[in-house]
Amino acid sequence: MDVCVVGTGYVGLVSGVCLAELGHQVICVDIDEDKVSRINAGQSPIREEGLDELLQRNIGSRLTATTDLGDAVARSCLTIIAVGTPFDGSTIDVSYIKAASEAIGTALSDKNDFHTVVVKSTVVPGTTDDVVLPTLERASGKVAGRDFGVSMNPEFLREGAAIVDFMDPDRIVYGGTDERTLAALDELYSVFEDADKIITANKTAEMIKYTANALLATLISFSNEMGNLCAELGEIDIVDVMRGVHLDRRLSPILQNGDRVVPAIATYLEAGCGFGGSCFPKDVKALIAHGQSAGQDMSILQSVVDINKTQPMILLELLKKHLASLRGRKVAVLGLAFKPGTDDMRESPSIPIVRALHEEDATISAYDPIAAEEAQKLFSDIPIHYTDSVEEAVQGVDAIVLVTRWDEFAELPKIINSMDVAPLLIDGRRMIDKNSVSRYEGIGLSTAS
Ligand code: UGA
Repeated sequence: MDVCVVGTGYVGLVSGVCLAELGHQVICVDIDEDKVSRINAGQSPIREEGLDELLQRNIGSRLTATTDLGDAVARSCLTIIAVGTPFDGSTIDVSYIKAASEAIGTALSDKNDFHTVVVKSTVVPGTTDDVVLPTLERASGKVAGRDFGVSMNPEFLREGAAIVDFMDPDRIVYGGTDERTLAALDELYSVFEDADKIITANKTAEMIKYTANALLATLISFSNEMGNLCAELGEIDIVDVMRGVHLDRRLSPILQNGDRVVPAIATYLEAGCGFGGSCFPKDVKALIAHGQSAGQDMSILQSVVDINKTQPMILLELLKKHLASLRGRKVAVLGLAFKPGTDDMRESPSIPIVRALHEEDATISAYDPIAAEEAQKLFSDIPIHYTDSVEEAVQGVDAIVLVTRWDEFAELPKIINSMDVAPLLIDGRRMIDKNSVSRYEGIGLSTAS
């Protein structure tokens, strides 16, 4: 199919590149000329596992990038909107969505063929039918469902695994204003004939996306609340508690041969220093605001956000249990990205932790396998000694604060135990065996102070 993708951010570029890899003819559109020329030169403006390889394989043949939206729409039969929906603290800003719809609508006014417009950006329920559709109709002078179609088709891409998630989807969800639109989406994803599909109303498709993320965020905050309770009650370790919870056969089914199936969702049921990233914090807050504006209380999700806000600070409390004053104390922060496998710092729990350490006059060293460059931009006002290894970061420190669950941090006991003076380890992800080092504190655990 001839496909146009508007917006070459994370979702747009991954989708465009993957659709080209699947055999479609794709034109990616962005207003940023620099991004467009980089893509055309085969260089991805974003870091994502496997993206460079697919981009280089398809650019210039099945994939091109341009700033000319009108021309791209004219040459395609389906246009995907994948522009950003910035969050202003309470609601999502749909101005880029509106601007893209306006431009696509204008391009459609000159087109005779039926065209399908697909909203892939995460938007609150009702946006596709109540904002995108009327904007397209106004700008094109045409009628939705008759001259062009509108579909909502959310993405379910995890950062760091986005290519795998796109190329091997666990589900495909889409709505559509009419039969021709639904048929266009069928064709777009025809190679995934075995994937589970939910073909529904646009508004339901929008809600599926939010509900999926809200559930995962809720599991994390739930686990954190239980962890905090364990620490408060004393002599209970959340790690043992969650191991017991995970063994519920409804959560990890037992096969006939006695083996357990451990579902990936189990890792969201572990206590830690909170969730971050570009999706969970923003999506949950946007859904709360949208629900409240509709008169719904949204108290569970409000608690999810509240718990997540205070969770990183628990690491500071644990630190201060041992070091009354942090002034001049050397503290190593291990992991800066919001999760392993990415250099994305957006809403990372490391942000409030580093800021609080700085405010308390601690001397900070930090190590992250790939996020140091991003961190330097974000913490340009804070003196931090970024190191190239865990060993270097922890040399001579009073305490280590582990924030991100990078695999290489599993070596910490070995490193700590070879040091002359073992620093205090504050484990924000409960990934280190509490008995493997002499001075250990972790989320969801109370130790004698
Ligand atoms: C999330 C969802 O997982 C995707 O399904 C969704 O499509 C995406 O948002 C989106 O809305 O675009 P992502 O933000 O990349 O994807 O990250 P996750 O891997 O789910 O991690 C989110 C947060 O949950 C992180 O802070 C991470 O530390 C935490 N997490 C993640 C866990 O606590 N346990 C895990 O096993 C995975």
